[in-house]
Amino acid sequence: MATPTLSLAGRTALITGASSGIGRSIALAFAQAGAAVVVNHLERAQQAEELVHELHHLGAPAWCFEADVRSAAEVARLATNVMQSCGPVDLLVNNAGIIQEKPFLETTEDDWDQMLSTDLKSVFLMCRAFLPAMVAKQQGVIINIASDLGILGRAEFAPYCAAKAGVIGLTRSLAREFAPHIRVNAIAPGPVATSMVSLAAMSQQAIDKELDIPQHRIAEPEEIAATALFLASDLSRFYCGQVLGPNGGSVMP
Ligand SMILES: NC(=O)c1ccc[n+]([C@@H]2O[C@H](COP(=O)([O-])OP(=O)(O)OC[C@H]3O[C@@H](n4cnc5c(N)ncnc54)[C@H](O)[C@@H]3O)[C@@H](O)[C@H]2O)c1
Repeated sequence: MATPTLSLAGRTALITGASSGIGRSIALAFAQAGAAVVVNHLERAQQAEELVHELHHLGAPAWCFEADVRSAAEVARLATNVMQSCGPVDLLVNNAGIIQEKPFLETTEDDWDQMLSTDLKSVFLMCRAFLPAMVAKQQGVIINIASDLGILGRAEFAPYCAAKAGVIGLTRSLAREFAPHIRVNAIAPGPVATSMVSLAAMSQQAIDKELDIPQHRIAEPEEIAATALFLASDLSRFYCGQVLGPNGGSVMP
């Protein structure tokens, strides 16, 4: 058996919510490893086009497509457009997400629906739309971005934690259903320096909470992209239904 490598040459990756933060870093890491990259975004055309330009600069074929991953119709349209313009997707990263901090007793039905549709239903819709081509090719990799909070829970983040715990359950179920040819794994990062967790915009109390982990710092998006690159590559070919935790020690299973 050949020794596996980190190369993604010859593969096409689609990353949701890739115009910023962790998704953007994953797009760049995959392009550097030789993948063609499809950038999905919502209402961030300029950032998505700038990223595509950067990916081309790295020598990678790259495209961007706007789609709201909460919507079955938009996801179906995305799948058709991507298949027509870029061919079948080998690597799917379900990264798009939102977060909301609110006391549980003030949480509305709409808050719950927004969170669950963006952070969990989207993963169901994307997997349902892109798995058939992977099944036809008898190969594929899906990486779902969960969160350490989906394991730990956190006061005043109940819908987010519930959605991310759901992502982990969905990951394990799909991993079992589509093995051995399609590998489905999750990443559950700790705090990462993106617009979602901006220390500059936080109270000292909130910063202390984020930094209350053994490594006492928050991650850079590139550190999460490194885990995604590993999971996308053949180096992780015996990983199935796993939840990897680049989290500075917040969770020690
Ligand atoms: N930053 C952290 O500390 C942290 C920790 C653990 C997990 N995560 C997860 O990482 C993922 C990326 O978050 P980030 O930190 O890079 O923040 P981010 O806000 O930079 O990225 C989220 C992206 O998702 C996109 N998005 C939101 N709703 C969408 C929709 N309906 N359709 C398509 N795109 C949509 C946004 O436009 C944005 O580009 C999220 O799933 C988040 O929950 C983040």
